[in-house]
Amino acid sequence: MLHGKTGLILGVANHRSIAWAIAKSAAREGAELVLTAQNERFLKSLTDLVSELGRPALTTTCDVGEPEQVAALMDFVKAQRGGLDFIVHCIAYAPREELEGNYVDTSAAGFATALGVSAYSLTALTKAALPLMEGRNGAVLTLSYLGAERVIPNYNVMGVAKAALESSVRYLAADLGPLGHRVNAISAGPLRTLAAAGVSGFSGMLDSVAQRSAMKRNVEAAEVGDAAAFMVSPLARGITGTVLHVDCGYSVMGI
Ligand SMILES: NC(=O)c1ccc[n+]([C@@H]2O[C@H](COP(=O)([O-])OP(=O)(O)OC[C@H]3O[C@@H](n4cnc5c(N)ncnc54)[C@H](O)[C@@H]3O)[C@@H](O)[C@H]2O)c1
Repeated sequence: MLHGKTGLILGVANHRSIAWAIAKSAAREGAELVLTAQNERFLKSLTDLVSELGRPALTTTCDVGEPEQVAALMDFVKAQRGGLDFIVHCIAYAPREELEGNYVDTSAAGFATALGVSAYSLTALTKAALPLMEGRNGAVLTLSYLGAERVIPNYNVMGVAKAALESSVRYLAADLGPLGHRVNAISAGPLRTLAAAGVSGFSGMLDSVAQRSAMKRNVEAAEVGDAAAFMVSPLARGITGTVLHVDCGYSVMGI
């Protein structure tokens, strides 16, 4: 599905990261990949993992909170690969104390951090990548969660950030559509990752989804990876501005 395509996937922290599952699916489908980790510590894990891909991939760091690092990343990709056909944004952060208790107690600083790292970064990355995608019918994909649409206990400000992220997907899709580019999100069911461990009561969420989802189980990271590979591939060339639920049907159930 991705033979001859060059992709940038951001947000590998370890082998459990959704970004890593997407990298494995995209590599299997023939993509040339550039993978990023937030910092040198995560880059070490990423470098150790890359040999499992079965094909070479470039790795580097990028903290999306630092605009000069985003610019440097695009310079790196331009120099090494010449351009980009797709970008997958798998980045979210909120201070741990914001992911427990009541949403009403969210601090101004926590709100700004969560929205900046988890939502604004997609817009900044997309803008920075536009010159690299020029004339290539690019695809931008991000990762969201049901907490954008419904109240999930303890998800709090991250739910508000995901709502902003999903709205950004629609506005970016309208901006980039005339250029031939697509922008979409996957709303994944809960997966046990580093980011998820920061959400108070996460294990209870997994149990609840396994009992109530249409398929009576939790989604697997590889299933999100395969859906992502489809969404950034030419097979999805008519799809933009949308949020695809990859959640074993949890979100369609009423009770
Ligand atoms: N795990 C789940 O249950 C679940 C469900 C739906 C959506 N998601 C979303 O999937 C995406 C990936 O998360 P994950 O679950 O794979 O966890 P993860 O912890 O493996 O990945 C999160 C990544 O965000 C990165 N990050 C945080 N702040 C950053 C910054 N300032 N600059 C650059 N990178 C930064 C981290 O380093 C990490 O690599 C997130 O957007 C998350 O909200 C996760």
